[in-house]
Amino acid sequence: MDDSNQAALSRSTVLVTGAAGYIGSHAVTELLRQGCRVVAVDNYSNSSSEVYARIERLAGASFVRAEVDVRDDAALDKLLSQHRVDACIHFAALKSVSESMAQPLRYLDNNVGGLLTLLRVLRKHGVQGFVFSSSATVYGDPVRVPVPEVASLNAVSVYGATKLMGEKILQQLTAITPEFERPWRVVVLRYFNPVGAHPSGQIGEAPRGVPNNLMPCVAQVAAGLRPKLNIFGDTYPTPDGTCVRDYIHIQDLVAGHVAALRHLLGDGASLTLNLGTGLGTSVRQLVETFMQVNGVAVPYEVVAPRAGDVAQCFADPSLAHQVLGWRAHHDLADMCRDAWRWQCSRPRSHA
Ligand code: NAD
Ligand code: UFG
Repeated sequence: MDDSNQAALSRSTVLVTGAAGYIGSHAVTELLRQGCRVVAVDNYSNSSSEVYARIERLAGASFVRAEVDVRDDAALDKLLSQHRVDACIHFAALKSVSESMAQPLRYLDNNVGGLLTLLRVLRKHGVQGFVFSSSATVYGDPVRVPVPEVASLNAVSVYGATKLMGEKILQQLTAITPEFERPWRVVVLRYFNPVGAHPSGQIGEAPRGVPNNLMPCVAQVAAGLRPKLNIFGDTYPTPDGTCVRDYIHIQDLVAGHVAALRHLLGDGASLTLNLGTGLGTSVRQLVETFMQVNGVAVPYEVVAPRAGDVAQCFADPSLAHQVLGWRAHHDLADMCRDAWRWQCSRPRSHA
């Protein structure tokens, strides 16, 4: 790691949108730990400000927070007039694939409209270092795995389309620098399947209602909050017939963001990178590992496949290692252990 980049990071102030959410809360905790100042923004549409007190306790540091919608340019403008920031990590978005198909305009407005407004206000305030949360969903059904960044892109859902549009908007901005303007420098991070929680058990994923994603479902079944897990299909062309994904520990994912920021603050070039482990894990393997490492039962039943699921998707993460020196360190057992610790210790209001 370059010491001057680390020094730039620990002197910096970072605007974090979607800061109260699953990934945002872990990122804010780590940024504070790295010595950064943080300006946190969220509209709490899928989270609660209660998490901030736990972040401050964990990090032993405080930060600025504001209830702001990223589509509200006046509120963003006011905030950035009060706090000078060096870079932005943009997590704020709606993320349910099924909901995006039922409410396409809401998703386009929030995710694409929100991005455009945020970029406009950032430019006004001279902030042109930007990290964008994208998703492996932009690869659609990949032709080959592991998937490299140069693979063809094909978003199947409206949610996926909002991520692809976001990437394209950012590509346009980084490709052209009008005269007398500072160039944008953007790192687009395509996350595979973030799971697990902070090892303290103090923060984690708190989905509202019935979770869509596998790990929170598994943890809730293990806790007895739901009677059984539905495994969506076991006749896929994979080793055990269930779908294969690239699960990545939230702490590794967050470390990828810190590395991306260090790169940008050290005047690094714009990049698009996969954040995954490079390992494919089947649904059945994840459930078996969860039961084994935590010593709990997860009753399950195989049901019909879920519409839109692809058989296999896992990353080629070598580019992130090459350019950022980043790689994932936690294994599936760590992910299952930390997800379970969070499930057992989470505040009742989030149960
Ligand atoms: P999350 O829902 O837990 O967090 C998103 C946060 O953004 C929430 O706190 C929500 O209240 C806030 N938000 C949404 N719209 C907003 C708006 N208009 N203004 C201000 N705040 C707003 O989701 P997450 O899992 O932490 O995801 C963070 C980002 O990562 C999202 O962009 C998501 O699309 C992307 N992503 C997530 C996954 C995953 O599996 N968790 C995978 C790939 C990509
Ligand atoms: N699954 C089950 N039972 C469940 C939930 C999930 O069997 O109750 C299976 C799914 O069929 C899939 C696998 O577990 O095969 C993983 O499902 P997730 O919903 O956890 O993750 P996905 O890979 O389907 O989707 C996730 C995010 C999307 C994102 C995509 C690619 O939820 O937002 O990764 O990054 F687009």
